[in-house]
Amino acid sequence: SAAEKGGYPHFMLKEIFEQPEAIRKTVSPRVREGRVVLDDLRLTKEYIQGVSRIFIVACGSSYHVGMVSKYNWERLLRRPVEVCLASEFRYCDPLVDDHSLVIFISQSGETLDTMAALREAKRRGGRTLAVVNVVGSSIAREADDVLYTWAGPEIAVATTKAYSTQLVLMDLIALYLGDLLGTIEKTEYDTILHELEALPEKLERVLASIEDVKYFASRYFNHDSIFFIGRNLDYAMGLEGSLKLKEISYIHSEAYASGELKHGTISLIEPGTLVVALGTYEPLFDKAMSNVVEVKARGAEVLALATEPLKEKMAHTADSVIAVPETHPVVQPSLGVVPLQLFAYYVALQRGCDIDKPRNLAKSVTVE
Ligand code: G6P
Repeated sequence: SAAEKGGYPHFMLKEIFEQPEAIRKTVSPRVREGRVVLDDLRLTKEYIQGVSRIFIVACGSSYHVGMVSKYNWERLLRRPVEVCLASEFRYCDPLVDDHSLVIFISQSGETLDTMAALREAKRRGGRTLAVVNVVGSSIAREADDVLYTWAGPEIAVATTKAYSTQLVLMDLIALYLGDLLGTIEKTEYDTILHELEALPEKLERVLASIEDVKYFASRYFNHDSIFFIGRNLDYAMGLEGSLKLKEISYIHSEAYASGELKHGTISLIEPGTLVVALGTYEPLFDKAMSNVVEVKARGAEVLALATEPLKEKMAHTADSVIAVPETHPVVQPSLGVVPLQLFAYYVALQRGCDIDKPRNLAKSVTVE
């Protein structure tokens, strides 16, 4: 009903706007005196020191959180992190043993493939940790440890606030474990934690510039194929931006690691093709710029995403630029993904799609 949507036309838009609060609820109870405190996590320093491999296993958008986390965790923990689709992991004879930490990310806590993968990991002696939104769900109950995202109930099939809270919780866990391992420098720890706490406020700024995104959606909604390109964290974030768009607007879209363009996808770029170029990962900003030049040379129309300080620079090559506030690179995808969610939403709106209940999709997939 309209009342349930709190005045918003769709649950998806309501949930997009709930993100600052959902992030605050996920982060603030876990920060005390400038330190990450994870009271529910029973992993000792001795245990984590003995971990030789970390797996992150999930489906859909939760898997995309894993893709972001791989970059962040390897940076902060200096341990190999493998991200696996649950449906693949369960049948691939995974190399899990009692020195493996296996993390399962799931909004619902009921996804069948993720549940089956959890049982498989346990059977092989892995230690399991679930990052789940629904309290008391099957995955939460069966994992050795569980940490909750406090996103609150999510109704729209296309996830937004659950994804965002998963991201920040994974960042908090990385800080916590990196601190135990001694692999994070104090200044970096402090900066990331400070930026996680500052995130809700910066997100409010992103949400206040909704008109820009609305305008670009009205300009581009008629495209029938869209490419998201980026490197490193921008690539991982692009996977989610592309999935959001295709899920609810039914536009074919693909996310590509920019460096791979020349190995295939560039053949699909023709005059007028829309490329969403993600350039928020500042260490590789210049590379992102040259990829824009490369697709522009083939006639692409480029909508770019950049941080505020680099917006002008990006505007030299891209046709249009959406800017987000700057933060620490580890936290940047949490800001960058929001315009992509909004873009998907407004494109779907322009196309008259059933936004909260896209065809053929379910909120929680409890069959194989
Ligand atoms: C479905 C939903 C997605 C979700 C995926 C995994 O496909 O539509 O939004 O990312 O399942 O769900 P989970 O509850 O395990 O995160």
